[in-house]
Amino acid sequence: MKFFIDTANLAQIKEAQQLGILDGVTTNPSLMAKEGITGKNNILKHYVAICNIVEGDVSAEVIATDYEGMIREGEELADLHEQIVVKVPMIKEGIKAIKYFSDKGIKTNCTLVFSVGQALLAAKAGATYVSPFIGRLDDISTDGLNLINEIREVYDNYGYETEILAASVRHTMHIIECAKIGSDVMTGPLSAIIGLLNHPLTDIGLAKFLADHKKGND
Ligand code: G3P
Repeated sequence: MKFFIDTANLAQIKEAQQLGILDGVTTNPSLMAKEGITGKNNILKHYVAICNIVEGDVSAEVIATDYEGMIREGEELADLHEQIVVKVPMIKEGIKAIKYFSDKGIKTNCTLVFSVGQALLAAKAGATYVSPFIGRLDDISTDGLNLINEIREVYDNYGYETEILAASVRHTMHIIECAKIGSDVMTGPLSAIIGLLNHPLTDIGLAKFLADHKKGND
């Protein structure tokens, strides 16, 4: 399973990259605003800065919601850097835009996906990635992981090449369950990725190894 980090924070992206396990980055307008990145030029420069830190795909979201606007913004984003993936919302105009980008060989990430039907449309339009938001479904008492399961089944039925990018991942168990289901990618916060490291028996075992080594070498 590919690991993407879901942030626009350069320090966190560098930390994940230095771990050696990072496959890409996803951002969205809220994450950019959280880092205080505003204004078109600053936003575009920030995407390039992210691309210069990581080796994999970097999702950059369009703001327009009309077809022409999405095409204009998406082409500008794609021209920024070869690692840019154009993130397009799951709306009717978005599906048309994804088809356009797909025909032109521009990678896309269909975002704000909350149902299997939406994921099916994204695949048929030729999206590179589909982003079901599992945490936000959990927030409204609906099983987000079940959606990943259902999309996996439908995509496998027909051999769709669209990659399932589990998004709105909040914690370690989301990552582990996504891996068990066979999600192609997960994107989550650094805390969830780092959290996978933790086990008390590892800490206890290491402390004992080091103490025994010290005793033997005193
Ligand atoms: O990748 C989508 C993600 O940014 C949404 O996460 O935690 O805001 O639901 P969250």
